[in-house]
Amino acid sequence: MKSFKIGNIRIKNPVFLAPMVDVTDLAYRMLCRKWIGMAYTEMLYVDAILHDTENRKFPAPSTSIKEVAGNSKTKRLMKTCKEDKPVGLQITGNSLKELKKFSKLKLLKNYNLVDINCGCPSSRITGNLAGSYLLNNPNKIAEMIKILKKDNTVTAKIRLGFRKNNVLKVAKLIEKSGASALTIHARLAKDRYDAPADWKWIKKIKKEIGIPIIGNGDISSGEDVEKMLDICDGAMVARASIGNPLIFREIQRYLKTGKEKEIRKEDRINEFKKYLKFAKRYKLIDLGRIKFLGGNFLRGFEGAGSMRKGLMKLKTLDEFERFLEE
Ligand SMILES: Cc1cc2nc3c(=O)[nH]c(=O)nc-3n(C[C@H](O)[C@H](O)[C@H](O)COP(=O)(O)O)c2cc1C
Repeated sequence: MKSFKIGNIRIKNPVFLAPMVDVTDLAYRMLCRKWIGMAYTEMLYVDAILHDTENRKFPAPSTSIKEVAGNSKTKRLMKTCKEDKPVGLQITGNSLKELKKFSKLKLLKNYNLVDINCGCPSSRITGNLAGSYLLNNPNKIAEMIKILKKDNTVTAKIRLGFRKNNVLKVAKLIEKSGASALTIHARLAKDRYDAPADWKWIKKIKKEIGIPIIGNGDISSGEDVEKMLDICDGAMVARASIGNPLIFREIQRYLKTGKEKEIRKEDRINEFKKYLKFAKRYKLIDLGRIKFLGGNFLRGFEGAGSMRKGLMKLKTLDEFERFLEE
């Protein structure tokens, strides 16, 4: 297994779980942990984190995350624990002033690194000049890295460009500004998922810059991971892992043996049960999220469609648990 370092963090397994809104909370990350080398929170707005902090409902700058009780959504999504390592806190935003305040928060010590999202194409985010919009202003990304790196290990996740491909320029500037690694989702923001990911850019950038490169886009099997690891340091999986944490077990099997096994219906249902257990343990119960994820756990086997229909009618955690037992 290829291992490498991001800053001082030893990455023992080059297979990464991608940050995903509505998916990669602590409970989900813990389901995948055994088979992955790195995971991230979902993308959070710097303002949302600061807002909670300033209201002192959520961690005052000197508060450790363990001491934090309460229920704001941001707070729940920031939860981590000592087994959830290494982990990155993924953020986005546009205000350098806020980022300066954010970078001093003591609670950042609960994460191994801060990852800047420069790839989200959603208009809700780009309308606030954050996410993939940042690719239009590489100097802003550079400033953000310089602010954060004073107190943290910093990485960035980018696409090939916003409307036009400027990935080489952006990647070089990100390295020069002091980021410790770079994840490349090999599509333009304007393409969302319509065009196939163009891995030749990942290969090109790997040749041009020295920091570790994590390749992302359209990985859905062990074979894909192996091909990605031929051209860069890490392979990040997003959509293919939604409701399917066992894909990581099969990727590991493939990397060791050259073969994958089919994931059985019982195993998929079992993983869904485990997710509920973790969500309860970490007080992360969110029925909307459970339904969305549940619809993805219950796929790829005979009878999955009718199970999904049944799932959509459920209203309480008890009902979900009974449904899965039956
Ligand atoms: C439901 C969903 C939520 C996502 N949320 C995030 C996010 O919070 N941060 C981020 O950097 N990318 C996010 N992405 C993008 C993925 O991390 C990844 O870059 C993209 O899906 C391409 O990888 P894939 O082809 O393996 O899906 C999200 C993708 C999906 C499908």
